[in-house]
Amino acid sequence: ENTANTSMWHYWQYFAKGVGYTLLITAISVVFGLLLGTLFALMRLGHNRLFHSLAVAYIEFVRGTPLMIQVMFVYFGIGLFVDIPALTAGIIAVALNSAAYVAEIIRSGIDSIPVGQTEAARSLGLSTRQTMTNVVLPQAVKNIWPALGNEFISLIKESSIVSIIGVTDLIYQLKVVQTATYKGVAPIFVAMVIYFVLTFSLSKVLGHFERKMQHD
Ligand code: ARG
Repeated sequence: ENTANTSMWHYWQYFAKGVGYTLLITAISVVFGLLLGTLFALMRLGHNRLFHSLAVAYIEFVRGTPLMIQVMFVYFGIGLFVDIPALTAGIIAVALNSAAYVAEIIRSGIDSIPVGQTEAARSLGLSTRQTMTNVVLPQAVKNIWPALGNEFISLIKESSIVSIIGVTDLIYQLKVVQTATYKGVAPIFVAMVIYFVLTFSLSKVLGHFERKMQHD
């Protein structure tokens, strides 16, 4: 006889905990992904052959393999040497993954500025550095910012893969609730709606800042 409470409301704390972990992983990964991604973009665009090749290899390899296997590789790979909490491994893997995507976002943003802009600035006597910071980058951020926002939204969804190493994110928690309630579909539906609320509200917030930026 099934005596479990099968109301989804009864398990709100499980879902809330999952959301907390999902947002934590995403937020930390966005910050480190942005920092590392900027570094890789500069390495790829720079004139140092070695740095350029390292950045290309990193970006291509990370984008050419599934995030799922990267998560497992980081967790069990580092686990060979030191005990690492699944949460830490998950954050490292998602951040390293995001860095490769961010690097390409930044590179294509900079590449999208016509070379005539650089030539004009240089012929007016601006240095390479001045050209980059005063002419190219201010225009490039208008393309980069929306794409970075999309990456942020992607990470909310893509971070769900860390559940395979046992991080108690939203996907993991929905499975816990399935087990507790003997209900297959309802917990899935609740988690799905929660994901949508998260991504939809984030895209509204980001869209707001985007429109503000366009007016400056
Ligand atoms: N689902 C794709 C994969 O497994 C993309 C993962 C990460 N995407 C991202 N924008 N950081 O490779």
